[in-house]
Amino acid sequence: MHKTLLSIFLLSFCIDSYLLAQEVNVYSTRHYDSDYDLYKQFTNDTNIKVNIISGKGGALLERLKAEGKNSPADIFFTVDAGNLWKVQKEGLFQSIISPKVLDTVPSNLRGPNDEWTAIAKRARVIFYNPSFVSEQEITNISYESLANEQWRSRIVIRSSSNMYNQSLVASLIAKNGEKETEAWAKNLVKNLARKPQGNDRAQIIAVANGEADLAIANSYYIGIMLSGSAGKEQLEAAKKVQMIFPNQQGVGAHINISGAGILKYAPNPKNANLFLEFLLSEKAQEYIVNRSYEYPIVNVAVSKEMSTFGLDFKEDATSIKVYGELNPDAIRLMDRVDWK
Ligand SMILES: [Fe+2]
Repeated sequence: MHKTLLSIFLLSFCIDSYLLAQEVNVYSTRHYDSDYDLYKQFTNDTNIKVNIISGKGGALLERLKAEGKNSPADIFFTVDAGNLWKVQKEGLFQSIISPKVLDTVPSNLRGPNDEWTAIAKRARVIFYNPSFVSEQEITNISYESLANEQWRSRIVIRSSSNMYNQSLVASLIAKNGEKETEAWAKNLVKNLARKPQGNDRAQIIAVANGEADLAIANSYYIGIMLSGSAGKEQLEAAKKVQMIFPNQQGVGAHINISGAGILKYAPNPKNANLFLEFLLSEKAQEYIVNRSYEYPIVNVAVSKEMSTFGLDFKEDATSIKVYGELNPDAIRLMDRVDWK
């Protein structure tokens, strides 16, 4: 009798320690404090501890390469399909096989062989200053029309070394061909109000200050700026600009992602799968998009800041795989037209 009780006790003790020992190791380039609360939620739900190693994409990739088969990393979590492609190119991902993930995420938002998946979406959009840009000028705007002479010295955009721009150019190469895109980029450079400098938010601020009439930047920055969390200067700037989704009469606005993949040598692949499934659950999606101001993959309620600048728009359904495949062509093209 005592023996039975003792073995039951030992068994439950073993199960407990087994569960507590469960973990998932995430290499992340995301810098949202709120992500930590989200990971805590995952641990509460599953008893799997989330260990985060955060850093810049390039540094984390070098670390993964150096660690090789001994890497403790289970998940690589970053922004831009181009950055996920860089990891895939090194052969460091494995295919995601979770039916939950594959059923939730449309195939155009997953990597080749399902080696990575979108967790949230963002659009690369146009911000303009309504004091200097007329309604008539901006309606029906497209990326392509930004090369028109009408915009001479009126546009700001960040440098060509930025992955967001490389992916935009890659998508235009996929859509319009390399020759046409090169002619476009040449004229876009002529239309710049200043030499490319600063990040996406700096472009929005330049438009708010009247240094330029129109900026190309990612959609979620306006949410962050309007929320006030980034300070008064950014809040005031955000109030002065309008945002518009380009190419609504055509294929739709350029879409990119925050995304993740499971690493080839992941020591905890089951937990990694559960982690991805969790990030795509309604609960996590609502949490992520209302803090990052990105667009969800599943239908969830979004914040006031997001609904004020628009949710209902046509998305370019091009497979985001091509951003990686055409990335070298995009970089060379931007160099040729002297996009700084
Ligand atoms: Fe960003």
